[in-house]
Amino acid sequence: MSNRRKFLVQTLIGGIATGLGYRYGLASTIMKPAVLPPDHESFPIILSTWNHGLAANKKAMGVMIKGGSVLDAVEQGVRVSEADPKVQSVGFGGFPDASGEVTLDACIMGPDGRAGSVACLKEIMHPISVARKVMEKTPHVMLVGDGAQKFALDQGFEKTNLLTPEMNDNYAAWKASGASYAPHANWENHDTIGLIAIDINGDLAGACTTSGMAFKHPGRVGDSPIIGAGLFVDNEVGAATATGEGEAVMKTLGSFLIVELMRQGYSPQQACELAVRRIVAKIKVHPHFQIGYIALNKSGEVGAYAYAPGFQYAFSNRNETRLVDVKSEKKN
Ligand code: GLY
Repeated sequence: MSNRRKFLVQTLIGGIATGLGYRYGLASTIMKPAVLPPDHESFPIILSTWNHGLAANKKAMGVMIKGGSVLDAVEQGVRVSEADPKVQSVGFGGFPDASGEVTLDACIMGPDGRAGSVACLKEIMHPISVARKVMEKTPHVMLVGDGAQKFALDQGFEKTNLLTPEMNDNYAAWKASGASYAPHANWENHDTIGLIAIDINGDLAGACTTSGMAFKHPGRVGDSPIIGAGLFVDNEVGAATATGEGEAVMKTLGSFLIVELMRQGYSPQQACELAVRRIVAKIKVHPHFQIGYIALNKSGEVGAYAYAPGFQYAFSNRNETRLVDVKSEKKN
């Protein structure tokens, strides 16, 4: 075969392979994202969901400014929300399930691709730290229920009653009102905290922690502890995390989808919008439905998008921390 003919045949085969790659989603595994020169002046950058993210970001920034790792920062950041009884959707003081028990879900992911997760964990104040121990001390990614609690106790965590008197009253009122379950995100302007960060070296990590939907069915686990749903980090590309009604995020693997869209060259903003629209296209949503995504790429560009109005995220860089109102698919 002549060289020219060989070239044409190889080009044709390459073209077919690339076409198939796109069709079956393989192209994204070989495409490199466009990485802009990082704006190191303002790094680290931290994003977290809702107004309770402000305090979490400040803690996380302090950890990195003092030389702590980005993994330490995301863990320490969300621990602030877990310990705060005023944050009624995360950790201590979170809404209980339909049986009156507070059950917690959390996951963490670091720049080296390792991940740890716990689900339906009871009586432990800091599920995010248990998730980190799962990542570091076991060959597993996820522990649930009694097994997760036993592991936590073995690791030195202590049992705490997570049901505050205020939540006990809320629970009693809910029972008295007929105890019907209605998914309701945006509750008092907060929900799951997902926190993603990039440090001065350009390394990414994320943490996500929640008490889940108020008065959920006992045993219900949402998106937050599911790697790829509530949180995903790929140190070559970026990070994304979710808040809101987890069932929709799980069915579309939202955070993984956003990171993969960024890998294909979409900006964090475009990727978040496409992920919300994927839900709209695939899932019949109810009138109180809410979902929100935030994303950060390797260059330090950020994005966020929600289904309904009301979602906010906390943005921090080296110079400032502020709350950002997020655009939504549904306008009112
Ligand atoms: N996004 C939190 C949950 O659905 O449990």
